[in-house]
Amino acid sequence: MSALLDGKVAIVTGAGRGIGRGEALELARQGAAVVVNEFDAEAGKAVVDEITAMGGQAALHVGDVSEIDDAKALIDTAVETFGGLDALVNNAGILRDRTLVKMTPEEWDAVIKVHLRGHYAPTHFACEYWKNNGRPGRIVCTASSSGLLGNFGQSNYGAAKAGIAAFSTIVALEMARYGVTCNAIAPAARTRMTEGAYGKIEGGDGGGFDFWHPDNVAPFVAFLCSDQAGSISGKVFGVQGDAVELYRPYESAAVIENGGARWDPADFADRVGELFETSGIKPEIENPMRRLRYSMTKRA
Ligand SMILES: NC(=O)c1ccc[n+]([C@@H]2O[C@H](COP(=O)([O-])OP(=O)(O)OC[C@H]3O[C@@H](n4cnc5c(N)ncnc54)[C@H](O)[C@@H]3O)[C@@H](O)[C@H]2O)c1
Repeated sequence: MSALLDGKVAIVTGAGRGIGRGEALELARQGAAVVVNEFDAEAGKAVVDEITAMGGQAALHVGDVSEIDDAKALIDTAVETFGGLDALVNNAGILRDRTLVKMTPEEWDAVIKVHLRGHYAPTHFACEYWKNNGRPGRIVCTASSSGLLGNFGQSNYGAAKAGIAAFSTIVALEMARYGVTCNAIAPAARTRMTEGAYGKIEGGDGGGFDFWHPDNVAPFVAFLCSDQAGSISGKVFGVQGDAVELYRPYESAAVIENGGARWDPADFADRVGELFETSGIKPEIENPMRRLRYSMTKRA
């Protein structure tokens, strides 16, 4: 029986554990040869061994995706080992949660680097490969509801993740002419990352569908990497449990104009309320994570 990704070559970054591990295993299960990138060599090797033990093809690339030379070597590993590249799943990520006033420059830089440079660098070399070789490609980026909505204590992480959603949309635009699609997911799952940040997350104790299991993110990612998803690009999806959501992009919700003349700042006191009345959006700060359909934590 043919599988969704027979004959394809895919890369998953940060695939040694958590969501990336589930993605690497699913892509292999669907027939792809998979390059497992990870900066923790032992965790990466364990996933390669799992894939080969189930009869799949995998290669290990140990490196930091946010380093330009490592990212170049990652794309080269796919091409040299498996003869090409069809899909890149940018997944690697870290958290350094802290409220802004307490956040050190190191905590800011580390998160921005791993996520934003860690998306830019492999995507840059993958797109260069597809453009130069006249081959179509698939990119899946990993954003987060923290970036799309905004989560307390994550100004670094949320800024990076919102940046990734924008990055993904723009890459989709630029690469459409070469037959390359690019989409972003905002996953949610019980992993080292989320249990480190929020404590124990329910499930995993056997019996019934384990909604927050990290392997639940992978099936939709495998689909996005397939030929069947060729018409889907520049979109952001929420993925968790058995639920796949489509996020609506930022859109203008209301407008006020000043009759073709430059505004006087004093006039806004009378007019700005129209924006909120027309749109139904409240002017005060709210907890935006309350808008999540599916939440791992009880959010006050
Ligand atoms: N778990 C969630 O609920 C959730 C929610 C939103 C977004 N995400 C995103 O999903 C992705 C995976 O998260 P996870 O929960 O599986 O975390 P995780 O910590 O379980 O796994 C992340 C993996 O990435 C690796 N990694 C980190 N930086 C790397 C780098 N520079 N180069 C190579 N490998 C690197 C780590 O060693 C680790 O194995 C991340 O981008 C994360 O921000 C996760």
